[in-house]
Amino acid sequence: MSGGGPAVRRLSDWDREHLLSLADEFGSPLYVTDLRRVRENCVRLREAFPEAHVSYAVKAHAGRAVLETVREAGVDAECASAGEVERALDAGFPGERVRYTAVNPPDADLDHVVSRWESNPEMTVTVGAADTIDRLRERGFDGRLCLRANPGVGAGHHEKVTTGGHAKFGIPIDRVPDLAADVRDEFDLVGVHAHAGSGISGDDLSAHRELVRRMGDLAREVGDLEFVDVGGGFGVPYREDEPPLDLAAVADATREALGEVDAQLAVEPGRYVVADAGVLLSRVNTVKDAPETTVVGIDAGMTALLRPAMYDAYHAISNLSRPDADPVSTIVAGPVCETSDVFADGRDLPAPERGDCLALGNAGAYGYEMASTYNSRPRPPEVVLDADGPRLARRRETLDDVTALERTVSEHIPN
Ligand code: LLP
Repeated sequence: MSGGGPAVRRLSDWDREHLLSLADEFGSPLYVTDLRRVRENCVRLREAFPEAHVSYAVKAHAGRAVLETVREAGVDAECASAGEVERALDAGFPGERVRYTAVNPPDADLDHVVSRWESNPEMTVTVGAADTIDRLRERGFDGRLCLRANPGVGAGHHEKVTTGGHAKFGIPIDRVPDLAADVRDEFDLVGVHAHAGSGISGDDLSAHRELVRRMGDLAREVGDLEFVDVGGGFGVPYREDEPPLDLAAVADATREALGEVDAQLAVEPGRYVVADAGVLLSRVNTVKDAPETTVVGIDAGMTALLRPAMYDAYHAISNLSRPDADPVSTIVAGPVCETSDVFADGRDLPAPERGDCLALGNAGAYGYEMASTYNSRPRPPEVVLDADGPRLARRRETLDDVTALERTVSEHIPN
């Protein structure tokens, strides 16, 4: 094994003193992203799928430092919007390493992507509706095209992220061969694609296998393709006692289910690359004894990390300031006046006191990316760690930033 590091980095593996010093230096709440771990995760993926084309689903974390690290680690970029395409190109991905997956794409996205394609003709566009092909044609696009199938089977950590069988995504799989035949002369048809959903665990392997089997059949039927993309969705252990995904077993199951195909296998994980490379640091501002529990109020809320509110997602929490205090049962809650703004309920933590610094684990994927300014709360900054030490990658948002759009309304131009 070269440079891939351990199969998982748990919250307890982070250097407690170092995190505390970062919170002191940069304030809280604060996202910390370790680029060395991003690199290790890329290596582990490339080693598990040596024959495959591996892309990173940029939506998990689109920060420049992460994108540059992923690019240098030899993993390509899968983009969900014109904005992500722009950021990938900006971060130095050449066009041939960028794939854009259009889901009900707004006109502005297609306009932008097609204009970027003109100077990057090796970029690939994946479409999930015949309608999108018409709209690309109208814009003069005749480049590398991939058809996204709806495979009729999905999996994921929550129904809100189970994609595979949902009518919203992809062309019904049995219609793909005819469509492929129709568009072949006009476009450079390079691949077929499907994505089961997000946060696939070892238990979901049979759904993954079934999706891949159907995609193998599809690729054989369509024929003459460069790649067959079976999506991302590889899960990470959010709970401290959850075993890491056996990536080698997933890779074996994928190969076996795909069968003999004269096209390259492609995968596009997002979470797996960045989740355990990030933590969110936050300070306790309120400790309140309530009947049967202690409410611990912290300065990060659902605006900084939405996943618990949105998906009931579990994130490990540790009290960095007081690791040896006696544990008490707590509710850890943010500053937003909304009941869903709770990170944990009934969680034992070393008795927190005002001013303590807490760390929330596995915050690297869909953390900063889903942050908002709800309640007029500016978003946290992000510090990245690398061999040469910590560096501020995104500054803390200010109230001025939050109101900037109101101060420039005269500059409004329609989309
Ligand atoms: N490919 C496609 C077409 C996708 O739609 C997604 C995720 C991925 C790849 C990457 O999935 P991953 O490997 O990261 O699981 N906000 C949610 C996750 C939504 C994922 C949407 N699509 C969360 O925080 O769990």
